[in-house]
Amino acid sequence: MTTADLLTTAAPSKGLLRFITCGSVDDGKSTLLGRLLYDAGMVPEDQLEALKRDSRRQHAEGGDVLDFSLLTDGLDAEREQGITIDVAYRYFHTAHRHFIVADCPGHEQYTRNMATGASNAELAVVLVDARKGLLPQTRRHTYICGLLGIRQVILAVNKMDLVAYDQGTYDAIVAQYRTLAKRLGITQVQCLPVAAPGGENVGSRSRRMPWYQGESLLELLESTDAKPFRADDFRMPVQWVNRPNQTFRGYAGTICGGSVSRGDEIVVQPGVQTARVERIVSPGGDLEHAAVGEAVTLCLDREIDVSRGDVIADAARPLPVADQFTCHLLWLGEGALLPNRTYWLKVGTRTVNARVMSIKHKVDVNSQAKLAARHLELNEVGYCTVGLDDAIAFEPYAANRTLGGFILVDRHSNATVACGMLDFALGRSANVHWQHVDIDKAARGASKGQQPVCLWFTGLSGAGKSTIANLVERRLHALGYHTYLLDGDNVRHGINKDLGFTPEARVENIRRIAEVAHLMVDAGLIVLVSAISPYRSERRSARELFARGEFLEVFVDAPLALCEERDPKGLYRKARAGEIRNFTGIDAPYERPEAADIHLLADGRRVEQLAEQVTERLLADQATLDQAE
Ligand code: ADX
Repeated sequence: MTTADLLTTAAPSKGLLRFITCGSVDDGKSTLLGRLLYDAGMVPEDQLEALKRDSRRQHAEGGDVLDFSLLTDGLDAEREQGITIDVAYRYFHTAHRHFIVADCPGHEQYTRNMATGASNAELAVVLVDARKGLLPQTRRHTYICGLLGIRQVILAVNKMDLVAYDQGTYDAIVAQYRTLAKRLGITQVQCLPVAAPGGENVGSRSRRMPWYQGESLLELLESTDAKPFRADDFRMPVQWVNRPNQTFRGYAGTICGGSVSRGDEIVVQPGVQTARVERIVSPGGDLEHAAVGEAVTLCLDREIDVSRGDVIADAARPLPVADQFTCHLLWLGEGALLPNRTYWLKVGTRTVNARVMSIKHKVDVNSQAKLAARHLELNEVGYCTVGLDDAIAFEPYAANRTLGGFILVDRHSNATVACGMLDFALGRSANVHWQHVDIDKAARGASKGQQPVCLWFTGLSGAGKSTIANLVERRLHALGYHTYLLDGDNVRHGINKDLGFTPEARVENIRRIAEVAHLMVDAGLIVLVSAISPYRSERRSARELFARGEFLEVFVDAPLALCEERDPKGLYRKARAGEIRNFTGIDAPYERPEAADIHLLADGRRVEQLAEQVTERLLADQATLDQAE
């Protein structure tokens, strides 16, 4: 059954509840979930027969005891086989309610899966083993649920049969958990004691714990008032612009907040243009009205600029627009998060270049302590500032999951490396405007009789970058060009004096050099940069600062062995001796360019020839550009 089927079958009185179960394997999560499905009458006859057979086989001595964990252990099988683990969504229903439960593995290495499950849920069932009480896992799961916006938890204290149904044990765990949940912003906690295999307090109330007067787990799930995490104001991210012919133009998307009626005034953000809704088109025909969760196409009464990624919002209650934010970030990448590296940020239907500008602190997920951090490793959570290339319309995650939740994607591997929750816009982003100046780059270049350009030399230390760049500059200078050579070593004596050679320091080193080179090109100069610049990602970001044809990547390609043999500064020797750490080519990576504009094979050839190769290319470009003028 699909979600759509679920939503259209006989309307249950309480609607749909999406929840997540948290707990490690030992807490008896699979058994509890299996028992819940069984008690809800969702195990078909044939599956029940198979379960009886399998239970007998697994527990030869156990007679007819059913092992409910066998119903839900699909993920465990995946884990044993070492294959990709996703979130298993299970659908079930009772007379009162439909449910979608996200069953996620509990181990720390599956935090990514848990975050996915939690981001789609309104409530979490947190399982604790009565014999063990709260474990670091319990704290971690609860923290992540809170981070992902879950405000309601049902704490199931399981295995009560193994502590002789002792109320004192139960009360102590409940008290501890309530304190924890409160600290994490989880406002509503309901607790109950259960013994999953016998179904005590799972589908029906237990007679063995008369001291517990509350409802069973299934009853709690049926009756709970967990509010879907949705905002009230109308918002719809535009998924695509539908223009099948000259006469029809509509904007398709799924409404992620509030509702819209024909005739409503809307604004298309991050812009300011407004219009009225003329038609609301749905697969079943035109509608007068559409609300959150519905996928519709809106037609407007005026032609305005709308593209994929824009947000159509209630004109009377527009979204804030900004390009810098504070946010929580859950890092999911194999490699560490490097501040100032450019990633794609996807929010709603929008994709935009983004950089984490600073990590204010990281959070110890087990103790919630705030710790200083330079980078974030796999599964770590940080409170960060992010900066975007373009402003977006957004909402804090606490108000709207769709417009406040985002992911970061690595631009090279396309892997999702983080999920994030937007918090506030930084005031400074709204208060700094671009100041227009009359004399521009073209004018400055023209007065020097040249086309401004950046020649970016990359390669290993000792490959000959600086020597070649120096020769090229001499030649250009002799020809009357206005140049500047930004050399990595030299820049590190001044503007980059504070930076070392850790990955994050190199990212920042290259970002600053690129920004300075960009300013110099804007000043009309021909700029030569000579820096190892070991990462593709930062070389790409550098290139993106410049206009087309204004940035030439020159790869000085010398074999490591040759660089090491030359060792002009004696640094390779020191690196091999362990006196220098993070040395490029030895214990730090160099990512070769995949498509350099100029590839110099610096394998012992005379540097003069290599320099000439670069100069010729540059002069040819200058001539073509002159003609184009
Ligand atoms: S980059 O990697 O951040 O681009 P950059 O070009 O600025 O490096 O500086 C590299 C120069 O610093 C080298 O030519 C070398 O003289 C010196 N150096 C000192 N330590 C290291 C190191 N660990 N790795 C590479 N270069 C180093």
